[in-house]
Amino acid sequence: MSELFEVEQYDAAGRLGRLEVPRAGTTIQTPALLPVVNPHVQTVPPAELESQFGAEILITNSYVLHGSDELREPALEGGLHDLLDFSGAIMTDSGSFQLSEYGEIDVTTEEILEFQREIGSDIGTPIDIPTPPDVPREQAAEEQRTTQERIELAETVDTGEMLVTAPIQGSTHLDIRQRAAREAYGTDLDLFPIGAMVPLMNEYRFDDLVHVVAAAKRGLGEDAPVHLFGAGHPMMFALAAAMGCDLFDSAAYALYARDGRYLTVRGTEHLDELEHFPCECSVCLSHTPEELRQAGETERHRLLAEHNLAVSFGEIRRVRQAIRGGNLLELVDARARGHPAMLDGYRTLLHYADQLRRTDPVAKDAFFYVSGESARRPEVRRHHERLGRLDAPDRLRLSVGSPGEDGWRLVAPFGPVPPALSDVYPLTAARPDSLERPAYAAAVRGVNRLAAANPDTAITVVHDGWPEDVLASLPGDVSIRLLGGE
Ligand code: GUN
Ligand code: ZN
Repeated sequence: MSELFEVEQYDAAGRLGRLEVPRAGTTIQTPALLPVVNPHVQTVPPAELESQFGAEILITNSYVLHGSDELREPALEGGLHDLLDFSGAIMTDSGSFQLSEYGEIDVTTEEILEFQREIGSDIGTPIDIPTPPDVPREQAAEEQRTTQERIELAETVDTGEMLVTAPIQGSTHLDIRQRAAREAYGTDLDLFPIGAMVPLMNEYRFDDLVHVVAAAKRGLGEDAPVHLFGAGHPMMFALAAAMGCDLFDSAAYALYARDGRYLTVRGTEHLDELEHFPCECSVCLSHTPEELRQAGETERHRLLAEHNLAVSFGEIRRVRQAIRGGNLLELVDARARGHPAMLDGYRTLLHYADQLRRTDPVAKDAFFYVSGESARRPEVRRHHERLGRLDAPDRLRLSVGSPGEDGWRLVAPFGPVPPALSDVYPLTAARPDSLERPAYAAAVRGVNRLAAANPDTAITVVHDGWPEDVLASLPGDVSIRLLGGE
């Protein structure tokens, strides 16, 4: 497994990677978006997904093909790539979704995996049980056990060169998710989808989504490629990528289009309510919302789906470039402003700053302080940790503005900055003059770390009007002065 996935660069826990798909004879770039293709209803033909949107991989449902009188034989005879007219990599799902919708399906994991291999799938999936959020622990645990049994069964099926996924379930019980991930990672399967996320996404429960992904990531090794099953809304790609998700699949582009829903990176709009298209894709440049409303149904669905795809692939490219540029968390911050639930998701992500810090590069281009949330980024935590190991002089004046005689300064949100680090990432951060309270609170935490490591140092803090109650959390022996009033 580890040889197939190579990480080139990290930002927070997000990564740029390359996933080799041996059976397809290709290597795909990650983060990647897999459009979901319904073999019966091709809202946008797969050949166009490839030529117009640059899709390197798509996902389709083998259970639908298996149960179809018209498509089963052609799929077996000519193979999936011919059937769909797509030359990139093809992943197949197993019917788990149908299982969760209708309560039963008429194939076994062995049968459906063999069928996936026979139709030429490049990445196959066993029949996991997508346990919904909030079920009792016993149910989540029991269904996770069944999923794990099927994963272990999948290891014994002759799947040839086809990669096989090991889905991670466990509902919203974080310890079960973590165990599921550890057990899945312990097999020799290749790719690790985190399942049953659609209800969380549909209900805008981005905080729970982050908790679940963080739990699964804790159970997996760093070399595990991670797929977020069913996560097709572009508003959440940056957030999910920052947690370390590498693959996304989108049925939303087509399903939403059939409902007149128009995707943006800030949320979902409805065609009926748009007077202008807030987008630069070719569909939006060459049509008005009114024209689309007047168009025939098939054309309207197709054009809306094309817009939805353009936005989704555009966001994937933006996420890749943000990782390359070391500013993924600034993109997440921007996306968090689109919807209060996304802001909750981002704040929850920052609860896991220590988990993100493990892979976050020590040096990047620039740290932009853009919100109170910036004060909780992993870079700030890393500086605080460093302060706990620094030797301070016997007397230390920590002042905002110009450095003291010893060259130390006080910089929110970081706290004390020694002269040796003052020109070093992230302490050269660009930030506005007016800061939110969390920035002062973070700086004070930094002073506390330094003070704890240097109990004999006499520290004076010189501030320019920081909140009194924030300053009150400094140790009693730290002197506090107002700049200019010293
Ligand atoms: N598609 C969306 N969610 C899931 C899931 O949990 N399991 C499978 N197999 N497919 C999915
Ligand atoms: Zn558009």
